[in-house]
Amino acid sequence: MRLYYIAGNWKMHKTVNESVALARELAARLSCCKEKVMIAPAFTALSEVAKVIEGTNILLGAQNMGPEEQGAHTGEVSVLMLKDLGVKVVILGHSERRHTYLESDALINRKVRLALAQSLEVILCVGETLEEREGGRLEKVIDTQLCEGLAGVDGAALDRVTIAYEPVWAIGTGKTATPEDADAVHAYCRKVVAALYGEQKAKAMIIQYGGSVKADNAAALMAKPNIDGALVGGASLKAESFVPIAMFR
Ligand code: 13P
Repeated sequence: MRLYYIAGNWKMHKTVNESVALARELAARLSCCKEKVMIAPAFTALSEVAKVIEGTNILLGAQNMGPEEQGAHTGEVSVLMLKDLGVKVVILGHSERRHTYLESDALINRKVRLALAQSLEVILCVGETLEEREGGRLEKVIDTQLCEGLAGVDGAALDRVTIAYEPVWAIGTGKTATPEDADAVHAYCRKVVAALYGEQKAKAMIIQYGGSVKADNAAALMAKPNIDGALVGGASLKAESFVPIAMFR
């Protein structure tokens, strides 16, 4: 049986005080949550949020990291710095990193391998633009992002990887893929993982859906056989909207 895994990506929102307040509220309200839960505040709030959620059932995540362990890389944050703060999970390959900051699959792969080598868990995001979908390139895009993103990752390390399918056209737009459409892409992701690592690993792979997940669509999405959780942006910024998603059943 796969777990359900609900993650909140706070993106570039919230001061330290605001982050601490939300983390406190989530820690209290999600203490009886049955699902795996992660929150990813901004880098600046990680250290204080870590103190709030230490010893709770909420994991601390980061939204990105640099591809090197350390060195002359102005503006980057290293995997060692994240681990030092108690970060357990890092989101990599988010479409905002791919499209706004032009991160390539090769760069994302270096980060994936480094995070795994340093014992972190990884959420590897994949997803197509509307143009790619309408141009019939959906499967090709997903295939490339998964194969190149996971290049050099062995089967043991794969156990610490979660895939997040986030169609770019559904992020922050209020448009959600229908549960059926999302499930079909999740099934395709599983097929790609099976081709790379075998059926058993594919069956065990947790695949989250992301893109305008809200309390009122979360249960229908996660009722689908291949949808094992959610990577939530906007609705993760308030306890009122995130708690019902994490407590969807
Ligand atoms: P929204 O939930 O705001 O659409 O964002 C999804 C996302 O990008 C999560 O990583």
